Amino acid sequence: MKYTDKIALVTGANSGIGEAIAHRLASLGCKVYVNGRRESENQRVVEAINANYSTGAISLTGDVADETTCRGMIERIASDEGRLDLLVNNAGTFLSRDRIADSTSEDFDQVLKTNLYSCYWLSREAFRLIEKQPPAEDTELRGAIINIASILGVEAWANAGIYAASKHGMMGLTRAMADEGEAAAIRVAAIGPAMVATAMTGKSGPDYIQPEDIAASVAYLLELSPAAWPTEIVIPRRGSD
Ligand SMILES: NC(=O)c1ccc[n+]([C@@H]2O[C@H](COP(=O)([O-])OP(=O)(O)OC[C@H]3O[C@@H](n4cnc5c(N)ncnc54)[C@H](OP(=O)(O)O)[C@@H]3O)[C@@H](O)[C@H]2O)c1
Repeated sequence: MKYTDKIALVTGANSGIGEAIAHRLASLGCKVYVNGRRESENQRVVEAINANYSTGAISLTGDVADETTCRGMIERIASDEGRLDLLVNNAGTFLSRDRIADSTSEDFDQVLKTNLYSCYWLSREAFRLIEKQPPAEDTELRGAIINIASILGVEAWANAGIYAASKHGMMGLTRAMADEGEAAAIRVAAIGPAMVATAMTGKSGPDYIQPEDIAASVAYLLELSPAAWPTEIVIPRRGSD
């Protein structure tokens, strides 16, 4: 896709994977809406992007675990820009104590609302908006929705059950929306990484997948010709099971 003048929303863009994606999209020419709950952190990312690129990043503070907020975010972009070309559902949370027998319904609600419901609410609203847009001349596509799921969207481990349930749900939603997207000329795909060096994992260093690897995977999906239609890219980590 030609990125110049394209409008992108990246949720959870003030840290880790989302921050790397926001920078990558800006470097390619997108105007990026930077979402997260912490306005000061959103502003930090917006200022860093605007210091390096002329695309005009904007902070869009909001809690994606709330349906009204999700609808409001898409409405705001529709009203200000008249269009949305790319939604990246990246905001997510992970419970440090996630043994099912020790968990509570509140834990389940919190993780499912943040990781899965948000993806449903934002994708639904974005799809409705994007499908009204004319296809881009270069790709013949109207836009794209990319979901940052997890390797735990296709497998599951002990002590990560609620998280795995949320990411399996995200994968199912992605596969169905990718089929619906074929007819609507909207690319929908998920990226499912193993452990990435971010605040969520507390890991760093070359033994871990880098946030920039996920940003590169987003860019790869956007570069594909319109007949190439992968629904997911799973990224295992070297040396792990
Ligand atoms: N790190 C990994 O190993 C790994 C592997 C596979 C998949 N993932 C997925 O990748 C995504 C990003 O993870 P990360 O590792 O980059 O984590 P991170 O560094 O902890 O960043 C999480 C981001 O999500 C935002 N966020 C969390 N809850 C939110 C909410 N309710 N509303 C809006 N924004 C919210 C946070 O900002 P605020 O706190 O300001 O809201 C932050 O920007 C997640 O979906 C995660 O499940 C991560």
